[in-house]
Amino acid sequence: MSIEQLAETAQAMVAAGKGIIAIDESTATIAKRFAGVGIENTEENRRAYRELLLTTPRLSDYISGAILYDETIRQSTRDGVPFAKYMADNGIIPGIKVDKGTHPLAGCPGEVVTEGLDGLRDRLKEYYKLGARFAKWRAVINIGEDIPSGTAIEANAHALARYAALCQECGLVPMVEPEVLMDGDHDIQTCYEVTEATLRSLFGALYEQNILLEGTILKASMVVPGKDCEEQASIEEVAESTIMCLKSTVPAILPGVVFLSGGQSDDDATAHLDAMNRIGNLPWPLSFSYGRAMQSAALALWSKDLKGNFAKAQSTVYERAKANGLAALGKWEG
Ligand code: 13P
Repeated sequence: MSIEQLAETAQAMVAAGKGIIAIDESTATIAKRFAGVGIENTEENRRAYRELLLTTPRLSDYISGAILYDETIRQSTRDGVPFAKYMADNGIIPGIKVDKGTHPLAGCPGEVVTEGLDGLRDRLKEYYKLGARFAKWRAVINIGEDIPSGTAIEANAHALARYAALCQECGLVPMVEPEVLMDGDHDIQTCYEVTEATLRSLFGALYEQNILLEGTILKASMVVPGKDCEEQASIEEVAESTIMCLKSTVPAILPGVVFLSGGQSDDDATAHLDAMNRIGNLPWPLSFSYGRAMQSAALALWSKDLKGNFAKAQSTVYERAKANGLAALGKWEG
C-alpha cells in the first residue's frame, strides 16, 4: 500500500461537506441502544438496523464513510450483497472498529486503557480483504478527582500509536480517537486542559512510532463542560475553545479532524460543528463522525414499526447527514 493511497483515502474521508457515520457499536453497546427503545437484540435485528442506515438513499451526498463493527462487516443486505461491497458500490468508504474496548488500567484506579493490540496485524489483513479501508480505535480519558493521570494518558496514546502503525502497514487509514468523556461536573477549562494534554501526548506518540500523518485522521471530542457542571457553555464558547485547543496541538499536515458526538443532543452536535467552521481559517477540514447524533432519531422511529417506518427512518438519517454535512461547511441554517 503506497503512501499516496493512504493519503487519498484520508482526504476522501473528509471531502468538503461530507463526514462519517459511526455504526460500530459492539453487541453489548447496541443492546443498550435497542433496550432504550424496546427492540430485541437479535442478530437479525442488528443486521436489519444496519441495513436501514447503510442503504439510506443518496447517503453519499453527505457521508464519505461508515465505521462498522466486526459482526456487521461480515453481514449482507437482505438481497445478499455484503455490506462492504454495497458501500463501495455506493460511494461510501468502509471502515472498521478494531479495538477491543476499555479495561481498568492496573495501578490507576478509576482509569481505563483500550485493549486489542495482540493479533491486530492479522485482523487488519482480514478486514482489508473484507473491504475496509480505514479503521478506528477509541481510547477513553476520564476526568475526575485527581484524574486523568499522566500514566493513563500516555498508556492510551502509546496504544493508539501502535495501532496506527499496524493500520498503515496493512493499508488502512487509522482514525485515532482519544475521547475525553463528558461525564462529571468539571468545567470547560478542565476539559480544555485535559484535551490539550491528551492530544499533545497522542501526537508525540504518533511521531515516536513513525506514523504518516498525511494518512491519519483524528477523531476528537469537543471541549465542553462536564454534563453535571452547573455552568454550561454557549455554542460559541465550545467552538472557540475547541478550535484553540486543536490549533495548539494538532499538526497542520493532518488531512482532517472529525468529531464524535459523545452524548450531545443532535442539535448541539450540529451547531457546535457549524460554529467551528464559521470561525474558519483552519489548517484542516473539520467534520463529523457521529454515532448517536446521526442515528437516535432514526432508531426511535424504526422501533415503533420495524417494517412500516423503514423508509421514514431512512429519511431522518438523510436529514441528519445533510445538517451535519452543511455544518462541516459552516452553512447550516438551524
Ligand atoms: P458518538 O457520536 O455516539 O459519541 O459515537 C461516536 C463514536 O464512534 C465513539 O467511538
